[in-house]
Amino acid sequence: MCGIVAGVSNQNIVSVLVEGLQRLEYRGYDSCGVAVYSPHEQMGQLAGLQRARSTQRVAELSAQVCGDTLQNSLQGHLGIAHTRWATHGAPLVHNAHPHFSARAVSMAQHGLGKVAPRPVQIGLVHNGIIENYEEIKARLVSEGYVFMSQTDTEVVAHLIHSHYAGDLMQAFEAALGELKGAYALAVICDQEPGRLVGARQGSPLVLGLSGQSAESAQGPSGDQAKFAGYFLASDAMALAGVTPGFVFLSEGDRVDLSASSYAIVNTEGQRVEREVRAMQAYSQGAQLGPYQHYMQKEIFEQPQAIADTLEGVQGIVPDLFDAPRSDVGDQVPSNSTPAHALASEVFAGIDRVLILACGTSYYSGLTAKYWLESIAQLPTSVEVASEYRYRDSVPDPRTLVVCISQSGETADTLAALKHAQSLGMGHTLTICNVASSAMVRECALAYVTRAGVEVGVASTKAFTTQLAALFLLTLVLAKVKHRLSAQEEARHLHAMRHLPAALQAVLALEPLVMSWAEDFAQKENALFLGRGLHYPIALEGALKLKEISYIHAEAYPAGELKHGPLALVTQAMPIVTVAPNDVLLEKLKSNMQEVRARGGVLYVLADQGTHIQSEEGLHVIRMPEHYGELSPLLHVVPLQLLAYHTALKRGSDVDKPRNLAKSVTVE
Ligand code: M6R
Repeated sequence: MCGIVAGVSNQNIVSVLVEGLQRLEYRGYDSCGVAVYSPHEQMGQLAGLQRARSTQRVAELSAQVCGDTLQNSLQGHLGIAHTRWATHGAPLVHNAHPHFSARAVSMAQHGLGKVAPRPVQIGLVHNGIIENYEEIKARLVSEGYVFMSQTDTEVVAHLIHSHYAGDLMQAFEAALGELKGAYALAVICDQEPGRLVGARQGSPLVLGLSGQSAESAQGPSGDQAKFAGYFLASDAMALAGVTPGFVFLSEGDRVDLSASSYAIVNTEGQRVEREVRAMQAYSQGAQLGPYQHYMQKEIFEQPQAIADTLEGVQGIVPDLFDAPRSDVGDQVPSNSTPAHALASEVFAGIDRVLILACGTSYYSGLTAKYWLESIAQLPTSVEVASEYRYRDSVPDPRTLVVCISQSGETADTLAALKHAQSLGMGHTLTICNVASSAMVRECALAYVTRAGVEVGVASTKAFTTQLAALFLLTLVLAKVKHRLSAQEEARHLHAMRHLPAALQAVLALEPLVMSWAEDFAQKENALFLGRGLHYPIALEGALKLKEISYIHAEAYPAGELKHGPLALVTQAMPIVTVAPNDVLLEKLKSNMQEVRARGGVLYVLADQGTHIQSEEGLHVIRMPEHYGELSPLLHVVPLQLLAYHTALKRGSDVDKPRNLAKSVTVE
């Protein structure tokens, strides 16, 4: 996680850095900071590297540094900026990036040597984790370096300083040779005020280009560079409107930038050219409009998101999964566009499915397992990516590996995918919301959901659009395997087309859910129950509630209750039950009786025709219609609303809940 923006230009770039950080806050918001080189004193800091850091949001940092006098503003043509998701060290100012090497390393002071301190200062920002920082730190401390933070990152600043002999790139290369772990780094030095160097290994980094180098890649509106120079960022979105072109740096790439030139060097030390792509316009989809929070907006966007995701699906055909469709705004890089008709070949050659994902995306995978096994009759396993990547498993090359991710950048899911590939499982498909993401580039096949930008940390419309795509995948596989009759195909297609309207009807239940939220806001614990296809929906409901309201919530398959969790049931424990009108309804009703007999208070989402009525200790919200196999897409919506309204009543920061980040790019 963490977001980086950096640049070198012939103009003041502080506004670019700060605005870029604002767009990267989804990557972490524990603290933020910006540093520039200035030949003059500013904000009471001496000429050289100067910085401002904050443990509040980027808006506060912006207020600190974007003033109109030298006392309340930072200005510089060379700068680095960072928004942090804390791994090593608490979210305090001294742990916030940028980190600087010690301005004066006094060897004599430590009695360790006779070498005079070099008047050099290195400043850097980092995304990733330096795994061997403790051992390097011990050595640097013994050499007299003084550490000001508890971070793993600071070690890199001192390490580069220790190698510096007049050439930043050489010192940087030498330091990189000693690092183990994952990093995207942007580094500046007060001795070379026109130079910015960077590198990526295991964490994303893009290079933004202006001037002639970007001419071949003017944006959709023919954008010209607003700032001459070169920039680095964790995500191209941070630089939209700043540079018309960008390059996805490859693993191991290093860059050496000045205001008028750039060079990319690969891991073998060879200078390389990388494809320059057009920068997409910054999505207007990320505006709040009439809503109070992005999460609320995104919940209400679900009918449209599903319609967009399924738009153009006329029939159940494999090539829906060949490549992101060309009308997706954020296009997949052309050099990795999977060949058309590959999907038919791949699907014909597989006889099982392995789904890899994390968090909410994992729950969409769990739901799909029920569909894949019952409709397509394909054995399916679903694994939490962070577990799969490190356990011994038995690879089967006739497996379709499906990675599900909103962002397409989740480190654990990407690593699990690479692990599966390394075991010889080459049939890979991703269901992802970002067409230009690493996951789409890595997988042979892709289906890009069109949920639009999802800003709220709590995933909502990404989940339901993933479910829609997974249902479609199920139907395609069932058809390829001759397990789908024409009649069933027509029935499912009809149900899918009607989904936006069905979702709209569920959203109309919001006032009823708000009355439940009044009760939940007073609680500290909650249980969620479901059976079969709706057990993953109970899991997702519990995750939503705990994530944004900080209420401890657990989900169980209702049949498991008597095997332990029933001991928790008292009047103080609200129990949400997802009760569709399906074959397990009578079993579920028995489980509900077990709860009622022990004084538990039930909140039931019941379909029509379930004959479950409200009474003392039993609150029922009636769903507008029963929706068969696609029912999970509807039942999850009141649970999203319940979490949202409960969090709102408890006063938590709905879109940016504590300790979390939108995109989890560290393991
Ligand atoms: O971008 P991804 O879908 O790969 O992200 C996976 C999880 O980090 C994500 O779903 C997380 O659990 C959400 N915050 C849940 O609301």
